[in-house]
Amino acid sequence: MLTEVTATRYVAPLHSGGSVPGIVEADDLGTYVVKFTGAAQGRKALVAEVVVGELARALGLRFPELVLVHFDPQLAAHEPHQEVRNLLDASQGVNLGMDYLPGARDFTPEVAAHFPVDPLEAGRIVWLDALTANVDRTVHSSNLMLWPTFGIAPPRLWLIDHGAALVFHHRWDTSAPEKAYDFRHHALGRYAPDVRAADAELAPKVTRELLAEVLAEVPDAWLEGEPGFSGAGAVRDAYVDYLAARVAASAAWLPTCFPSREELAAEEARRAARTRAGRPDWLKRVPDLHGKPAAEQDWSVHLG
Ligand SMILES: Nc1ncnc2c1ncn2[C@@H]1O[C@H](COP(=O)(O)OP(=O)(O)O)[C@@H](O)[C@H]1O
Ligand SMILES: [Mg+2]
Repeated sequence: MLTEVTATRYVAPLHSGGSVPGIVEADDLGTYVVKFTGAAQGRKALVAEVVVGELARALGLRFPELVLVHFDPQLAAHEPHQEVRNLLDASQGVNLGMDYLPGARDFTPEVAAHFPVDPLEAGRIVWLDALTANVDRTVHSSNLMLWPTFGIAPPRLWLIDHGAALVFHHRWDTSAPEKAYDFRHHALGRYAPDVRAADAELAPKVTRELLAEVLAEVPDAWLEGEPGFSGAGAVRDAYVDYLAARVAASAAWLPTCFPSREELAAEEARRAARTRAGRPDWLKRVPDLHGKPAAEQDWSVHLG
């Protein structure tokens, strides 16, 4: 079960995201990014956060700890924006908190251009997104963070924000588990993600038992009242059935649209040649640092 904490201070809203999560301190002295039940995205977004996040963790991907946060809107009486206040007033009770990663950086295209990601790791993340039909891990909205970024250790990719995954739970009756998704704009497409290796490694791990454990973490209150289901247990079973069927059908949805390492290298060489050809003679002697493959870059100069 997810740990339960009680919010003691509402620090600030995070306006960068569509659901306006808030930074909240809690009685365990932790700081959390809280997704509120009163947000326009609704409770299904919180279900997706728990299911996909805990699945990611079980598969060995980095994902911050989740907690259930008891929240009293009185804590945010000082919040000046009326629309944020409305959201918080509608969120009395249990909400979802994610451990705040202090100093983490969003994985933007500018950062991505200079950060090496192993094709195997990229493959695992793309595979998870394909399995869970996550439509929100694109180049411009990566929902990936780099942490730590202070030079103590190399920064690593952390997954956040799975509220837009599990799109099938908006249309239980018509969503086929074999459905392919468009991953052409995936945030990690530029790293030649090895989705076949990821499929061989991860598919056997996503058993019905694991899926049931993950679904058990979702509070009943976020599952009850789903039209066409007799209660929270029946909804949990539907998620387990759907995701188990989708794993079994991976050959049908495995994304194959990414350029290979050879194609990426050829494109890089063409780009470098174009850059060199356009330079004045005196500049041709200056080393082309920006044309270096990402893996040979010193990331620290770009993250400072
Ligand atoms: N655990 C975290 N630690 C630090 N910053 C975070 C964390 N989670 C989210 N953020 C920051 O808040 C922004 C919005 O969060 P996100 O979960 O993506 O919300 P939304 O659903 O609104 O897109 C992120 O882009 C990131 O900058
Ligand atoms: Mg987001």
